[in-house]
Amino acid sequence: MKLYADTAKSLTISDLAAMKRNGDKISCLTAYDASFAVLLDQVGIDVLLVGDSLGMVIQGANSTVPVTVDDMAYHCRCVAGAAQRAFIVADLPFASYAEPTQALANAARLMQQGMARMVKLEGAKIDVVRFLVDQGVPVCGHLGLLPQSVNRLGGYRVQGRDAAQAEAILREAQQLEQAGAGLLVLECVPASLARTISQTLAIPVIGIGAGVDCDGQVLVLYDMLNIGAGNRPRFSRNFMAGAASIEDAVARYHQAVKTAQFPGLEHSY
Ligand code: KIV
Repeated sequence: MKLYADTAKSLTISDLAAMKRNGDKISCLTAYDASFAVLLDQVGIDVLLVGDSLGMVIQGANSTVPVTVDDMAYHCRCVAGAAQRAFIVADLPFASYAEPTQALANAARLMQQGMARMVKLEGAKIDVVRFLVDQGVPVCGHLGLLPQSVNRLGGYRVQGRDAAQAEAILREAQQLEQAGAGLLVLECVPASLARTISQTLAIPVIGIGAGVDCDGQVLVLYDMLNIGAGNRPRFSRNFMAGAASIEDAVARYHQAVKTAQFPGLEHSY
């Protein structure tokens, strides 16, 4: 296993943008450690998201709120040091990007210590995104269900069901793109809204519980491998069912995303 990826062979944000233009779906999974990073990379998963979902699936917390920048930098380095081809995105965790300068200091840690290629942040933090992009930090937005706000929201629920909320999410997506975001994750929104946003934006839109018409799909690795005691969310699928191995399950997911066989209507809202 190599400690430093050969960046010449790694996918870039331009490659992902070209995939969208060409109508090639983008496959993405979360990853938190070197062993899975190598496996996912070798199968050909395009984007590895070092998600703050690690708070739940690695640390056993009941939300992403306890995750720290130290945690993210550590896990991101484990993943980025092992993957060769995949584009590595890391979450800025809860309360680590309230102000532009705080966001920059924490994004720098994820990029310098964690070797992330892009940072992801939740919500329409337009000024923060613009500032980070101006400083050379590639940013992925995240709209719809915002897990870091679970205590304010009172639970994990589908967002954007009514017209006013849907319009607000579309407007925020456009503002994030204008501020320089290079990718957008849309979580738990109606498939029709996700389709409109994917068609409206030039940047790639990666969906999770957002229907099949997004430019790519992401799932939490442990959910799709059916690991863990918690209930699997409706938008996920157990890819271990019928698979010969973990590698086979990941390959089936990759293939299902690339051919738009996943998600089905039963995984969408
Ligand atoms: O933390 C995470 O895993 C995420 C995905 C759910 C998109 O942000």
